[in-house]
Amino acid sequence: MENKKPFFYDITLRDGNQALKKPWSTAQKEIIFNELVKLGVQAVEVGFSGSNDMDFEACRHLAGIAPSDIVISGLARAMEKDIIKVADAIKHAPKPRIHTFIAMSPFNMKYVLKKDPMDIRKIAAEAVRYAKTLMGERGEVQFSVEHFGDCGENIGFVIDSLLECVEAGATTLNLPNTVERSRPFEFVKLVRQVRKEIPENITISVHCHNDLGMATATTVESYFAGSGQLETSLNGLGERAGNTNMYEVAVALHNCGAKTPVNLSRIYETAIVVAEMSNIPIYEKAPLIGEDALAHRSGIHQDGALKTQGMKKGAYRPIHPSLIGRDDGEKYGFTSQSGKTALYEIIKSQGYPISVEEAIRLVPVAKEQAEKLGELPTDSIIDIYLKEIFETEGPFEFISFKKLDNGPKDKFNLKFKHENREFDLTQEGDGPVEACLKALAGAGFVQKLVHYEQSAFNEETKGAQADAMTVIQFETPEGLVITCRGKDPSTQKANVKAIFNGLNLIHK
Ligand code: KIV
Ligand code: ZN
Repeated sequence: MENKKPFFYDITLRDGNQALKKPWSTAQKEIIFNELVKLGVQAVEVGFSGSNDMDFEACRHLAGIAPSDIVISGLARAMEKDIIKVADAIKHAPKPRIHTFIAMSPFNMKYVLKKDPMDIRKIAAEAVRYAKTLMGERGEVQFSVEHFGDCGENIGFVIDSLLECVEAGATTLNLPNTVERSRPFEFVKLVRQVRKEIPENITISVHCHNDLGMATATTVESYFAGSGQLETSLNGLGERAGNTNMYEVAVALHNCGAKTPVNLSRIYETAIVVAEMSNIPIYEKAPLIGEDALAHRSGIHQDGALKTQGMKKGAYRPIHPSLIGRDDGEKYGFTSQSGKTALYEIIKSQGYPISVEEAIRLVPVAKEQAEKLGELPTDSIIDIYLKEIFETEGPFEFISFKKLDNGPKDKFNLKFKHENREFDLTQEGDGPVEACLKALAGAGFVQKLVHYEQSAFNEETKGAQADAMTVIQFETPEGLVITCRGKDPSTQKANVKAIFNGLNLIHK
């Protein structure tokens, strides 16, 4: 059987809400509800109206403002008073659905409900029948087998009970993994068995809790086993370790080629709103939405990530961050495990000019600091960059450079120290660079200039007046090309500083 478009049934406002330390008010629920509408879910379980007046009121309000294409559902135990409450709360919804449930696992029937299985089957069918009479032609009934995940040994009984519920009027049968204790494979096998025995026009649904952290896997695989409805929650909110996280399921299905109705680009923004509203911060390693979920720290990963950065598929990421509205989500942090790529990326991202060759030169200094301090903040990396690139230490110390007079050729005076020996040289030249290099050559420090350029040093973003920046390349006798920079408010001094930075690099 071909898989249909998945139907996302959201349970944030019911299972998620009932597990909050401070359940939401109507106004708070409305904020989340509006996020769900923007996300494009097809159904929202708005609450458990039988639990208290506040939740009844919230359900009633949300049913009244629901768009015409969204199913509005309310949860009721398989008992008349709960069912009446839900019917009353959601009666103004354009597409109302009563969701009733009872446990059918041998363990729960015996020790919690303390009832005979055949009595439970009867209660289930009667609850569905009653709910259907209240819904009439306008609404639907969903039935859940609570603790379905524990029903491996009595699956025949469960299937027969579900068939009775269908006869009583249920059109959606929900199979919860109320407590995740076992393998996704075992649960999905049961889903497949139910799907085989239930008429095709009846929707099978799954509702997985995340006690062992496998709810997404179970839900995704259940979809491919024929479960058309997927019950998920925003940020994975729900009882104990929560319910299946909707973002993970929607993105996984998208990656697998299924047509999801979820507006994926809203995911990140929604997650932030939900974290704030629930007072439950997003774990920094949370898949997709965690602060660190798209960060690269090891040199190998940084290199691969950067080489594939602009591509749809990345060497070290499951999705392009823009898919979930996290355009700047991919981060490069510098630690003792990192390399040139991170430095290059971080420095460039702050608007500073740098070449890969220069980034390589910065690695040992940055690593030494990172070994002591852990991940280096961006400011520290920029400090290293400014110091190592523009104030290169070595045997040469530049003191001053002045233009003397305007003869037929310009004359310049250069003062510098080399290993404690002072030089005071005057030299003619076509411009400061030529004069400086000639003066140095005369003192025995010959340099082969292979590239020269000058531009503004981009510090506008830092609020400072732009310095002039000179970039020079020298070729060593061994054929190595060394890039060096100098910056200064005076264009002339920027040139000479670049030359001395180069000398120190070569003669270190
Ligand atoms: O986890 C569960 O079994 C439930 C049902 C009430 C659907 O939340
Ligand atoms: Zn649940």
